[in-house]
Amino acid sequence: MTTTTSKATAALPRGEELLHDPLLNKGTAFTPAERRALGLSGLLPPHVHRLDEQVARVMDNYRNKQTDLERYIHLVSLQDRNETLFYRVVVDHIEEMMPIIYTPTVGQACQQWGHLFRRPRGLYVSWEDRGNVESLLRNWPHADVRVIVVTDGERILGLGDQGVGGMGIPVGKLSLYTACAGIDPAHTLPVMLDVGTENEGYLRDPLYMGLRQKRIRGAPYDAFVAEFIEAAARIFPEAIIQFEDFGNQNAFRLLEQWRERVCTFNDDIQGTAAVALAGIYSALRLTGKKLREQRILFLGAGEAGIGIGDLIVSAMMDEGATCEEARQQCFFVDSHGLVSKSRTGLAEHKLRFAHDVPPATDFHAALEAIRPTAIVGVSTVPRSFDQRVIEAMSRWNERPIVFALSNPTSKSECTAEDAYRWSEGRAIYASGSPFPPCQLNGKTFVPGQGNNSYIFPGVGLGVVACRARLVTDRMFAAAARTLASLVLPSDLEMGRIYPSLTRIREVSAHIGTAVAEVAYKDGLARAPRPADLAAAVRNTMWDPVYRTYA
Ligand code: NAI
Repeated sequence: MTTTTSKATAALPRGEELLHDPLLNKGTAFTPAERRALGLSGLLPPHVHRLDEQVARVMDNYRNKQTDLERYIHLVSLQDRNETLFYRVVVDHIEEMMPIIYTPTVGQACQQWGHLFRRPRGLYVSWEDRGNVESLLRNWPHADVRVIVVTDGERILGLGDQGVGGMGIPVGKLSLYTACAGIDPAHTLPVMLDVGTENEGYLRDPLYMGLRQKRIRGAPYDAFVAEFIEAAARIFPEAIIQFEDFGNQNAFRLLEQWRERVCTFNDDIQGTAAVALAGIYSALRLTGKKLREQRILFLGAGEAGIGIGDLIVSAMMDEGATCEEARQQCFFVDSHGLVSKSRTGLAEHKLRFAHDVPPATDFHAALEAIRPTAIVGVSTVPRSFDQRVIEAMSRWNERPIVFALSNPTSKSECTAEDAYRWSEGRAIYASGSPFPPCQLNGKTFVPGQGNNSYIFPGVGLGVVACRARLVTDRMFAAAARTLASLVLPSDLEMGRIYPSLTRIREVSAHIGTAVAEVAYKDGLARAPRPADLAAAVRNTMWDPVYRTYA
């Protein structure tokens, strides 16, 4: 299928220049008429291939690669040549490709960024550019930016400070906005704010590509981030700005500082919260219990953990609990033990969950003291949900809820197989990075992946479609409810508490509609309300198909 471009042929670049524009290039799919009209005759081999034939060629090469990192490089190089073909390949093979263009493989790519580098993608804004950030943003070649993902590289997945190599994450996340929710790639902008790195290995590496200095902190850092956000909001007033993989000493503060002023959210805090809450809603369909009856113990009290805790509290309040009652159902263990009233020097974001409980210095002790119905791992401590933990959970609960969300796979608190084996198949399990299906006593379990890609692309789609002014927690709560409602009985039957990723564009369209609905209800939408909101949201979705130029 092709659609005709609105861009007049005369306005298109021609010849070699057109072949090097990834948003317009069709490679061997340029028709004879286009080749004649656009100065391409002779610059391509004579046979004209259809898009599906090009996909077959890419997949042939892709499957011949030996490692996931080689597959990543293959795909990113394709993206740099021909974005339509790249997205066609990704959309048609989303389950296979998601772990390559995102966690876990993207983590390896970030770690080797300076060594793998081929072509730049996105905007690198460095501390050296302070005072001049607006002019950098004006260098971006596309005027109509609708989604910006920005990182400073300090907390990349569970891998810590990756400095400028963190750029892999905004690039990957924006690919998912397009693949999962049909955001036009010409409307996306990945940004790396390079303020230095604490990673000594990179500072010593001659191929490292960022500033060779320790991180800028405190007021100068905040001023630099503010310069970027204010300039971005001025130049791209329609854009949603997603904070991504900032260290938690900055993430909470920046979110609070900006969320009421510009259209922004933090995916590690709010997106994660929504995907985890959706997982809990689905799990409750299996246990037959109410959210308010859950006692949830988190391992890790950072962005992900506190974000999930806050959203669960507001969801419990929707069920009639008071804020205090709801908070009393959520407990956190951090690197110093159970978060409690008796602890001193607790970070601001943990204080609301510091309860009057006896001290417990490790997770096992806290587990015995709390006896939770659900445990959520967001600690980056691999194997911390060991056999003792899962067996204890299975003694207290008919269907223990076990979410091991740390990324990448090497950081997971427990594998799917261990959770099912140690609980004799009773655990309701989800992970952050994907695990393959596993067999136990003749039954196949398909573990769910609490993948933020179920949420943020749909939220972005909804915000873009109605031109919302702000992104609110009510939008994330609606996204969580919508996601859970799309889980089929057949998914639950095999243990999967999220829909199949093959349905992701349908899922995003539903979430986009629910989010836009909230924006209209709350007076946050700038676009007039269409008669059929669901159809309008779907119509904004970009499809990876070739446009006809001549
Ligand atoms: P963060 O750095 O904000 O928080 C990490 C928390 O873990 C801190 O509270 C820290 O005290 C705690 N921690 C570290 N070592 C510990 C130990 N030995 N015992 C107990 N607690 C310990 O990081 P953030 O953003 O909360 O992410 C944590 C993990 O969750 C990462 O691996 C990240 O990739 C993953 N994550 C997963 C998502 C998903 O599955 N959808 C989404 C977002 C994050």
